[in-house]
Amino acid sequence: MKADAPSATAYLIATSTLFVAADPRAGRLIPARAAELSACFVAARTRAARWAQAALRRKEARPFVSALERLTLPGIQLHYALRKLYLEETARAAIADGVGQVVIFGAGYDTLALRLREQFPAVQFIETDHPATQRRKIHALAAARRDFTRTQPPTNLHFLPVDLTRGRLAATLFNFEGYRADTPTLFIAEGLLMYLAPAEVDALFQTIRDCARRAPLVRFAFTFMEPQRDGRVNFLTRSRAVDAWLGWRREVFKWGIGRTELPAYLRERGFTLREIATGDTFRQRYLEPQSLAHLPLAAGEYVCVAEDFDEGGE
Ligand SMILES: C[S@@+](CC[C@H](N)C(=O)[O-])C[C@H]1O[C@@H](n2cnc3c(N)ncnc32)[C@H](O)[C@@H]1O
Repeated sequence: MKADAPSATAYLIATSTLFVAADPRAGRLIPARAAELSACFVAARTRAARWAQAALRRKEARPFVSALERLTLPGIQLHYALRKLYLEETARAAIADGVGQVVIFGAGYDTLALRLREQFPAVQFIETDHPATQRRKIHALAAARRDFTRTQPPTNLHFLPVDLTRGRLAATLFNFEGYRADTPTLFIAEGLLMYLAPAEVDALFQTIRDCARRAPLVRFAFTFMEPQRDGRVNFLTRSRAVDAWLGWRREVFKWGIGRTELPAYLRERGFTLREIATGDTFRQRYLEPQSLAHLPLAAGEYVCVAEDFDEGGE
């Protein structure tokens, strides 16, 4: 991503959340509070972006946005919504299993920690992100506090700016006052690892492994993409315009791994695989019960839930 600019894809995801929330069929998949908070992040953009967003969210503009999505990456907005539902379920299950801390890497404008920390006041939430993106999020929340009375100064939500290309993540985390080294922890990296170089992904796994040495339980939920036949990491059904846009925003995909290689990759790094969720998982779990299985869904990004080796029973 551009060194001093907030992530453009994080903003795109917040916009998508709003767009899906306003959909007469798929809107019920988005929690009301997630839509409310996403609206506050979108509103905090530049005046021009705000104007464009307001125009795009109008009913008359929906066919235009849907057509644009069909031409570029069909079903991507629904995919974002479903991967978020899956990660929320993963987080709730981890808390039920005794996790007392949730650390989110590359949080962007995601609303999970903001919502769960209201519901689970005894659980610590830490959002880490590139400083430029995180600064924008904190400003948006501060501005919205006037309107969002529930967004009180949080005691169990902490923000930690970290550029993962700069190293020193472990030291930064261990020295962070909000981090509790001895607490069972869920780490989340949603839509992040593909933007990192392989060595940076390794460093992230190593950091989590270091955390696992001090905590009785460590789980890591992350999304990943597979390298395609041409060797490039990407969604299965996207147009060249998507590659061009990501290149322009300097948010190209760098790291990917095949689903079959993942168990060995995790084992080498001290983790065991708990589950992999695919588009089929999302369809069965969220779309079929709502009679929405016919809706297009972008394919090529998966969610993996892994656990620290020692605790994973291998
Ligand atoms: C595609 S967005 C995903 C945002 C959020 N996790 C979600 O899924 O809604 C990628 C996120 O990774 C963060 N990111 C990208 N490169 C980073 C880096 N070098 N260090 C820290 N964060 C980074 C961006 O700031 C952005 O928030």
